[in-house]
Amino acid sequence: MARQRILTGITTTGTPHLGNYVGAIRPSIEASRDSSKDTFFFLADYHALIKCQDPALVRQSSKEIAATWLALGLDTDNALFYRQSDIPEIPELTWVLTCNAAKGLMNRAHAYKAAVQANEEAGEDPDFGITMGLFSYPVLMAADILMFNADRVPVGRDQIQHVEMARDIAQRFNHNFADVFNLPEAAIDDSVAVLQGLDGRKMSKSYNNTIPLFAGEKQLRKSINKIKTNLLEPGEPKDADDSTVFQIWSAFASPQETARMRSDFENGIAWGEAKKQLFELVNGELAGARDRYEELMANPSHIESVLARGAERAREYAVPLMAKVREAVGIGPLR
Ligand code: TRP
Repeated sequence: MARQRILTGITTTGTPHLGNYVGAIRPSIEASRDSSKDTFFFLADYHALIKCQDPALVRQSSKEIAATWLALGLDTDNALFYRQSDIPEIPELTWVLTCNAAKGLMNRAHAYKAAVQANEEAGEDPDFGITMGLFSYPVLMAADILMFNADRVPVGRDQIQHVEMARDIAQRFNHNFADVFNLPEAAIDDSVAVLQGLDGRKMSKSYNNTIPLFAGEKQLRKSINKIKTNLLEPGEPKDADDSTVFQIWSAFASPQETARMRSDFENGIAWGEAKKQLFELVNGELAGARDRYEELMANPSHIESVLARGAERAREYAVPLMAKVREAVGIGPLR
């Protein structure tokens, strides 16, 4: 049996936070070290343009995300790590797939539908502010995935629909032309925690409740101190399952340490003390990587060389795949 291929993209908008780390970065880095699997991780910088028209922010975010993944120990000998925009075959494939994607399928995409609905509720034209990029980005994502014949695509729940669309588009292409594409599946790992943010809702940039991953020790302590708690006094029993402090604790601690903290909650640990311990734990896991992160940010030429090598390796897949696609649709040298 062929080795399993796992692929996922990271949109280069925003600065990585603890929720990204626990939900996506940490499990991906573990997977990158598993030599029984072929893993593909890439900076989805063309996707960034859908949400962000500020060039400085796109550039800064690409650098921060690449530095984060490398600092945390992504195994780039095993995993392929590349920047989407370094693979010109991806936008080429996007066009061919665009010609095989039903417009009706795109009409059903959640992100597009939500934008239309927001316009309607605001009494605007339904298409107000909606670019073709937002409308057709599931096709770009399909190209990302199908280019490398990925089997499994680890994503958040909001992205499952896009992986299913990629599958639909692949099936249609295979049926109309030639059996070129593998049919991918979304992979949701239920053992991975969805981290809560400062206010107890899911940690997310859009809620402005995040704890930055590498903002420095002082800032980390400050953020952790801001986590919302109730007003119970030291000595009063506290409900661990109702606490963001405990939820984040259990995403970083061993099962034994988690059990110990649960009983400390029952025994009325003070919020200040619980937060102090949480800071020590999280800081302990991240401090070494934070130093490497600072170095990489100060000297991005190392990041560039890793990405260049990744692009070279990725194109060893992308160039022949694109040749097959052109052949299948009738584009290329005359004979
Ligand atoms: N659209 C994804 C997100 O916003 C990121 C992404 C781009 C991606 N291309 C991908 C994820 C391909 C998986 C596979 O999270």
